[in-house]
Amino acid sequence: MKLSKSIEKLEYSQALESDKEAMEWLEANGRKFGQFIGGEFLFQKNADQIKVTNPADSSILAAIEVADNKTVDLAVTAASNSQKSWHKAGGHARARVLYAIARLIQKHARVISVLETLDNGKPIRESRDSDVPLAIRHFYYHAGWAQLQESELAGQEPVGVVAQIIPWNFPFLMLAWKIAPAIAMGNSIVLKPAESTPLTAMFFAQLCTEAGVPKGVVNIINGAGNTGATLSAHPNVNKVAFTGSTAVGRAIRTSTAGQSKKLTLELGGKSAFVVFDDADLDSVVEGVVDAIWYNQGEVCCAGSRLLIQASVGKKLVAKIKKRMETLRFGTPLDKSIDVGSLVSDKQFEQVSHLVKSGLKSGGNLFQCEKPDSSKNYYPPSIITDVDSSHPLVQEEIFGPVLVIMSFRTQPEAIQLANNTRYGLSASVWSENINRAMHVAPALIAGVVWINCHNKFDAACGFGGVKESGFGREGGKEGLYEYLKPIKLKYKATKGASGNKASSTSNVQNSTSSEIDRTLKFYIGGKQVRPDGGNSIPAHNFDGSISAWVGQGNRKDIRNAVEAARKAHGWASKTAHLRAQVLYFFAENLTVRKDEFIKRLVETCGVKKPEATAEFNATISRIFSYAAWADKFDGAAHDAPYRGITLALPEPIGIIGLVAPDHQPLLAAISLIAPAIAMGNRVVYIPGDQYQNIVLELVSVMETSDIPGGVINIVTGDKNELSTHLAGHGEVESIWCWGDSALNKSIESISIENLKRTWCHENNDRDWHDMNSGEGTEFLRKATHVKNIWTPYGD
Ligand code: NAI
Ligand code: MG
Repeated sequence: MKLSKSIEKLEYSQALESDKEAMEWLEANGRKFGQFIGGEFLFQKNADQIKVTNPADSSILAAIEVADNKTVDLAVTAASNSQKSWHKAGGHARARVLYAIARLIQKHARVISVLETLDNGKPIRESRDSDVPLAIRHFYYHAGWAQLQESELAGQEPVGVVAQIIPWNFPFLMLAWKIAPAIAMGNSIVLKPAESTPLTAMFFAQLCTEAGVPKGVVNIINGAGNTGATLSAHPNVNKVAFTGSTAVGRAIRTSTAGQSKKLTLELGGKSAFVVFDDADLDSVVEGVVDAIWYNQGEVCCAGSRLLIQASVGKKLVAKIKKRMETLRFGTPLDKSIDVGSLVSDKQFEQVSHLVKSGLKSGGNLFQCEKPDSSKNYYPPSIITDVDSSHPLVQEEIFGPVLVIMSFRTQPEAIQLANNTRYGLSASVWSENINRAMHVAPALIAGVVWINCHNKFDAACGFGGVKESGFGREGGKEGLYEYLKPIKLKYKATKGASGNKASSTSNVQNSTSSEIDRTLKFYIGGKQVRPDGGNSIPAHNFDGSISAWVGQGNRKDIRNAVEAARKAHGWASKTAHLRAQVLYFFAENLTVRKDEFIKRLVETCGVKKPEATAEFNATISRIFSYAAWADKFDGAAHDAPYRGITLALPEPIGIIGLVAPDHQPLLAAISLIAPAIAMGNRVVYIPGDQYQNIVLELVSVMETSDIPGGVINIVTGDKNELSTHLAGHGEVESIWCWGDSALNKSIESISIENLKRTWCHENNDRDWHDMNSGEGTEFLRKATHVKNIWTPYGD
């Protein structure tokens, strides 16, 4: 036999990583873990237990106690008691603690990697070379933000107590993603790891003490869904950060509705991997391996839908099949295997079932090996001959299963890639930079990789759009998820009635000289009569009628959203043009100064100086957002790879704006201007009081070159109209200033299309306050950041 032939035939022998140290650690802890609360491990009497298993051989590694409601409450209380002093300690003190954590993880990297692999079934190569180093990087990166917090994030304060619920696919990395930014910014946390993979979190708890984390700042509790549900709905939790399935994300949104909590949801995906005919096909093959067989495909952003340009389809599929034959499967602790075990029997059954039942709708399955339930091994799999409505193409499988489809043209590729209810990530493969840079922004996803897939870094935000959730983790944008602006509460001055009762007082008591004025809606650039034909009185502060306004219904809201949908071209106008339109609007409004001041005095009952101040602040606010239009422009991140990551703020789409009652002119502009400056279209519902004021602006809007449909205004019953808006599938975000019942119903209804919601108590801020009435907080709410990874070099 020729030497080359015999080398080809050589078998790899096992190169097992030792589990000795990990086993010793488990033994030292009696193979049993309670709850880490207030810096100590607590054990409950007669607690329920969950066995912790190694999915590769079904051996039992340890047991965890399930935290009951009382224990959850203890953990939240410990977090609450520690938070203020942790914040007060200052950014530098926190930076030192995060730095110490990073150093300690580095010191124990090997045992953490082994524990992770034992508990989860992922190859040691991945936990050692990817999960743990990325976790370390996260703590270093956020130590830096803690240090810079006072100067770079002035005007913001921590949200308080944060509940963090994480999944089992990247137990240690997700812990780092959650804990590092939260504690860096001065919050205290209660984290619940997934019940099937709690071990590295328990190891981390012990490191916290060593790193000098003050007692109660980090609490880690164990349990399954019920414990997670109790924790996220706890009244003293100010924010919930969740990563996991879309179904549980919806459940958390529902159970926290109306609790004034901040929420970020990082949910499922069905990400497209788009290959053009000018791609380097050998790189593509390695990219496919990274995209769908990394971590056994148990990755929320796995490239699970391969879209290939038809002309190279056959050739590429043949190359992929050949590569599949060389992927090595074996015991996860073997340093030279590529694919390990799925996380649990349950997940193995889930993947097997999804594939089996999916194939009933057609499609061809190709696998090089058979599934092995004794080791929870599900082999790398591809499925061809499916179309875009096939269940295996639409549903997240969360296993090593790739569906393959083809396209002919670039527009078809974009359309196919976006044909999913998810929007977490996508990758584009082409050697033509013009093409790649054109397609990447057109893909509806939070993260887009060019000629790579599944790259992550602490400096680059990660998170989704549509049913993949909302919020970002990592990057500067991720910090704001753990902060809130310090704000002045609105106090009505004498005469300025904030009292809703006056609007329902006796209509006959009218003092206005123009009570027969009827102000129409503003929809699609036109003044429109209400669908139902009814008008209702808008009142002045003293109960007299100032004008009649339309009484909107569900149909009017639908028409307004439809008009907004048609105005999508606004998003692709240049920022310069949007700024010009806003300046022109301010100019035209200035001409009507005296009239508006008079109107504010009559309607709101404020004195002339106060009305003048509100008018002047309104003009200034329009100028501010005109200024911001071409300055809120993203970043180029220097992540540790040969390339650059572009963080681009993109408009959300259609935003529903539900306004507060007070300061009606300034509030209207404070909401409308940032939203449209960033390229969104809006449907505006005024507060119950002073509904006429925003409609007085319509004639100014009409002469200011604002394209029809960019701003739409519907008046009527605020509660009813905003509920219709919240239930509309094409409205992607809703900002609401309402009472707690309204906020609760908006947040509950939003689960249908997982809308972003931003709900507030009616008078939570003074719109004159420059810290909370204007600024980047509004611009951040009007955008989401898309991170586009662009490697360079040959
Ligand atoms: P899951 O969403 O149930 O679990 C994630 C975490 O949420 C765990 O810590 C769990 O204990 C907790 N949890 C469960 N129910 C809860 C509730 N009602 N309230 C609060 N917390 C709750 O995910 P599961 O059932 O383990 O996996 C099912 C499917 O979910 C997978 O097949 C996959 O499709 C998807 N998934 C997606 C992940 C992602 O990163 N996007 C991660 C894990 C699962
Ligand atoms: Mg396990």
